[in-house]
Amino acid sequence: MGELFDTTTALDARVHMPTYARKPVMFVRGEGMRLYDDAGREYLDFIAGIGVVNLGHAHPAVTDAVCEQMSKLVHVSNLFYVEHRDELAERLIGLFGGGAKVFFANSGAEANEGAIKLARRYGKANGGESCTRIISAERSFHGRTLATLAATGQPSKQEAFEPLPSGFTHIPLNDIDALFAEMDQTVCAVLLEPIQGEGGVFECDPAYLSAVRTLCDERGVLLIFDEVQTGFFRTGTPFAWQGYGVKPDIMTLAKGMANGLPIGAVVAIDPVADAFRPGDHGSTFGGGPVVCAAALATIDALEAEHLGANAIAVGTYMREGLSALGVKTGAIIDVRGRGLMVGITLAEPIAARVASEALEHGIVALNVGDSVLRFLPPLVCNKAEVDTLLQTLSAALGSS
Ligand SMILES: Cc1ncc(COP(=O)(O)O)c(C=O)c1O
Repeated sequence: MGELFDTTTALDARVHMPTYARKPVMFVRGEGMRLYDDAGREYLDFIAGIGVVNLGHAHPAVTDAVCEQMSKLVHVSNLFYVEHRDELAERLIGLFGGGAKVFFANSGAEANEGAIKLARRYGKANGGESCTRIISAERSFHGRTLATLAATGQPSKQEAFEPLPSGFTHIPLNDIDALFAEMDQTVCAVLLEPIQGEGGVFECDPAYLSAVRTLCDERGVLLIFDEVQTGFFRTGTPFAWQGYGVKPDIMTLAKGMANGLPIGAVVAIDPVADAFRPGDHGSTFGGGPVVCAAALATIDALEAEHLGANAIAVGTYMREGLSALGVKTGAIIDVRGRGLMVGITLAEPIAARVASEALEHGIVALNVGDSVLRFLPPLVCNKAEVDTLLQTLSAALGSS
């Protein structure tokens, strides 16, 4: 580590609220899959921020779009028209398949807050004053604001902040009977991640998602997909639901949308979107011209570089390699995910140790709890880089 690292860690501990347990590395530069620390050491980034820089670090098309817009206009109120905002909304609606409208926020939690408010607004208008309850899944993650924390199905994250907003019910994932039992006239929406990310990369069964869609249609309940982590080609398709063939009424987006700049979005089918009235919802920064220019450049590059196809090919290669490593070492008992959203469960509760050993060897990976490792590399990741990951893991697991 360099001198800059030493002064930074000391200052960091003094000036920040202790909400993050940071790792002992300071990154100063990135390019594609690679990150460089303050001493010039190179790392392969297998978490892409946390599922954010889908194009890789410092993509020139995004840099150019941002610089150009920065030099013209950074901010005016949402009460005025600006460049790029409509074009980006139209682009998202096109990727969604048409017949929808967009609200721009600044993060995943904010996008989910917007979706929750919209679902309640629509629920009350169509199902009566008590039609406000939202059902989400156990082990889900939807954000850390109070309402999105209430929607999150992880009591360990919630308890210190109770009382949380009411009107949220959690059910086990992939259990259609559990959902059926909760579906009464008070339910306005079901909120699901097609693949739970922060919880450890757990997929919805395709048959379960279809059954949820059917049940929601029968009961007039909205289906919301939180695509904050699964969106923007991470699983191969623009949004994960397209890989399941189950379309939501509302989807929320953030993370990969502008390759690292803060932006989020709520996309809702027209009849639902039109439930919002002027003044119902808003954001000072949401939909600003700089982040919208960045998002357009990001989507253009994701498509032009065929990174969805790469996510499928390299993701399959990674899962096959991890499965083979599991057979060889006996140290991996489950490998799962889609595209370049990959999770493994280790036979022993050593995930934190393996992640920190990997970091020492120049691989950035993420542990979830005691036994799960999660990989979300930039979608430019190639097979040779996966081979480096597998060699590093092999050494770390072999020494357990
Ligand atoms: C599925 C999902 N929803 C919401 C969020 C919250 O996003 P943000 O941290 O941008 O508020 C996350 C973040 O990890 C997420 O993975």
